Amino acid sequence: MRLYSPFFTFLLTFAWSLILLANCEEQQIPEEKLLVLTVATKNTDGFRRFLRSAKHFNYTVKVLGRDQKWNGGDYMSAPGGGQKVRLLKTALEEMKNDDQIILFIDSYDVVFASGPKELLKKFRQAKHKVVFSSESLIWPDRHLEDKYPHVREGNRFLNSGGFVGQLSNIKEMLVNWTGKDDDSDQLFFTKIYTDPAKRKSINITLDSRCRLFQNLFGSLDDVVLKFEDGRVRARNVLYDTLPVIIHGNGPTKLQINYLGNYIPNTWTFEKGCTMCHEDLLPLSALKQESEYPLVLIGVFILQPTPFVTVFFERLLKLQYPKDRIKLFIYNKEAHHEKHVTSFLMDHESLYREAKVIGPEEVDEAEARNLAFDTCRKDKDCSYFFNIDAEVVLKNENTLKILIEQNLPVVAPMVTRVGRLWTNFWGALSEEGYYARSEDYVDIVQRQRVGVWNVPYVSSVFLLKASLLQSELDDYDLFDSANLDPDMAFCQHIRNTGVFMYVTNMEIFGRILSTDNYQTGHLHNDLWQIFENPMDWEERYIHENYSHIMKDKLIETPCPDVYWFPVFSDIACKHIVEEMENFGQWSGGGNKDTRIQGGYENVPTIDIHMTQINYKDEWQKFLQEYITPITEKMYPGYYTRAQFELAFVVRYRPDEQPYLRPHHDASTFTINIALNEVGLDYQGGGCRFLRYNCSIQAPRKGWALMHPGRLTHYHEGLPTTAGTRYIAVSFVDP
Ligand SMILES: *[C@@H]1O[C@H](CO)[C@@H](O)[C@H](O)[C@H]1NC(C)=O
Ligand SMILES: *[C@@H]1O[C@H](CO)[C@@H](O)[C@H](O)[C@H]1NC(C)=O
Ligand SMILES: *[C@@H]1O[C@H](CO)[C@@H](O)[C@H](O)[C@H]1NC(C)=O
Ligand SMILES: *[C@@H]1O[C@H](CO)[C@@H](O)[C@H](O)[C@H]1NC(C)=O
Ligand SMILES: *[C@@H]1O[C@H](CO)[C@@H](O)[C@H](O)[C@H]1NC(C)=O
Repeated sequence: MRLYSPFFTFLLTFAWSLILLANCEEQQIPEEKLLVLTVATKNTDGFRRFLRSAKHFNYTVKVLGRDQKWNGGDYMSAPGGGQKVRLLKTALEEMKNDDQIILFIDSYDVVFASGPKELLKKFRQAKHKVVFSSESLIWPDRHLEDKYPHVREGNRFLNSGGFVGQLSNIKEMLVNWTGKDDDSDQLFFTKIYTDPAKRKSINITLDSRCRLFQNLFGSLDDVVLKFEDGRVRARNVLYDTLPVIIHGNGPTKLQINYLGNYIPNTWTFEKGCTMCHEDLLPLSALKQESEYPLVLIGVFILQPTPFVTVFFERLLKLQYPKDRIKLFIYNKEAHHEKHVTSFLMDHESLYREAKVIGPEEVDEAEARNLAFDTCRKDKDCSYFFNIDAEVVLKNENTLKILIEQNLPVVAPMVTRVGRLWTNFWGALSEEGYYARSEDYVDIVQRQRVGVWNVPYVSSVFLLKASLLQSELDDYDLFDSANLDPDMAFCQHIRNTGVFMYVTNMEIFGRILSTDNYQTGHLHNDLWQIFENPMDWEERYIHENYSHIMKDKLIETPCPDVYWFPVFSDIACKHIVEEMENFGQWSGGGNKDTRIQGGYENVPTIDIHMTQINYKDEWQKFLQEYITPITEKMYPGYYTRAQFELAFVVRYRPDEQPYLRPHHDASTFTINIALNEVGLDYQGGGCRFLRYNCSIQAPRKGWALMHPGRLTHYHEGLPTTAGTRYIAVSFVDP
């Protein structure tokens, strides 16, 4: 005989569930009963991060020890922390409501990942009056290992960085504390826990499976970010739990910084960066420019660097009242002295002050120390803005944006074009060098946009001067026995617990390659077409070149002759000056040892590109900027822009004023005017005899493109005054 029918079983189960459910409701601990206590003698960046996460979840937090002197030892190394126990004990003595729940937690390296409700639920489920956080490593006394009870699953050892419990039980636990401030709190609690009688009477357990507390030390590989509907948590994949509190204990400060970039809602897929819009310092609120904070800009030229003149042009364009800027320029390269001098000669008076330090005086580290110290000692100095000469700051508002972001140290992200190379590191290797964080590529490519707490920034960053009076008051921040100055500096900052950020909220600019930069020429930047093509283009290609197709800027002055802008004024000027500086103009005779056969049929006064070692660069230029137009205008013809002859010609009335009619030894010819008719010379131009068609008003920087043989028999018209320069290339001879 069957006692129950399946249906009856179902009913029974259902009824039980209801009873259990009701029970749960009954036992739920009201959130008002929870009080978070933490000790923070200093208002560190980590502490502010903790408070932010607590506020996000509406935790009630009481801070102990504010502004007291910390005697509890160095949290990075030796045991200590006794001061925390003393402060807690005193605070609890005043509290009378015995069924209050106390969460005692570190704060400099802690973030909440969830709210009071979940915390209390998990506490209740632990079925003990006091629950300590756990870890897999025993500390500080390994000899106590045998005394620890075994656990079925999870961490076996106690960590005192976080515990939650009923007030009366915690009071009982603290009753015998008489330790010194630098005694180990962890050892104190460990001894209570490992005493079976005390463990039982106080009713203590460990959160072995990290349901409440995740200590990161020893568990880094087990913790991953978990993005879920507008919030971010950490998941412990070993125990499949979602801890409520994340603690970067011991040497895991950088990992908590990384996790804190997301948890609990710092950055989410749904909302992006939430902290980026908090605590801003809007400069627009200032009524007058004279109220702008004073900034010391440290400019560092540390190696031969391309486009230094452009760097100074940009510095000048930086949007900020110059009267509120002091300049500190360190130049290590004799080669760049002329650039610094010329910038200061023209613009020094605009700035509040300018100071130049040369290499004879100090080395890089000392120069950087000195620059910081200049700001440190200047009571008006509010910010130090560091910018190395290889930084191309395209965003003229960078300085304002960084100030408004209101962070201790913040770098605008700058990247090397087409590379993953930037001025920040997302993580640090064990040896203290570069390591790639999981989000590095997304940040570099701006798939994730925000403000990121990172272990290393360089080249360009803003620092609050107040730090130089406090955490960073050591003079020799850039000195180290074994690290480069940039790394020494970042290590120093990390050790003080100051947060460094990089922002990719906007596009700020890029960073030049200084590799292979030769300084043997007059205008070395002309040679940068391979190493820094984007900067080369911005400097040397005509501003309207990029839209000549769209805006139909290509003219046809004579049949099959095309005319379009290609070089900037600066390009023309630099090429001419480079040639004049080289100075070995050919004699204009028929005998020419520079060419094959040694005989020139139609000689000009010229210098070949090969003579100034510019062949490869010139060919690259033709390929990049001429080829697309050739193929457009002469459809069906494909060129790799090969040439044997490319040169700059000089026409002068008293030297060689014109060139008699001839064919070029080319499939097509490129003839670029390098200076300005009416201004630099009179006359000049080019005539195509077959069509009786002349171009008599050549335009500086514009290229003429025409077929070389057969149809386009042509002559150079006489230059009647001044000097005319053209760059001629016989393409595909
Ligand atoms: C926190 O409290 C505020 C106001 O009392 C409320 O609007 C908000 O939803 C609360 N947040 C959470 C996470 O409970
Ligand atoms: C510990 O406290 C829980 C209630 O929180 C209770 O059920 C349990 O029996 C206690 N354990 C001991 C050993 O007293
Ligand atoms: C505190 O000291 C008393 C007296 O030695 C002892 O009986 C008690 O167990 C101690 N309590 C704790 C929590 O250590
Ligand atoms: C580029 O084109 C614009 C519009 O036609 C013109 O105003 C400007 O002067 C051109 N730039 C140069 C350098 O010629
Ligand atoms: C060539 O053109 C010029 C003016 O453009 C004109 O004066 C001359 O007569 C022309 N010559 C021939 C041979 O057509």
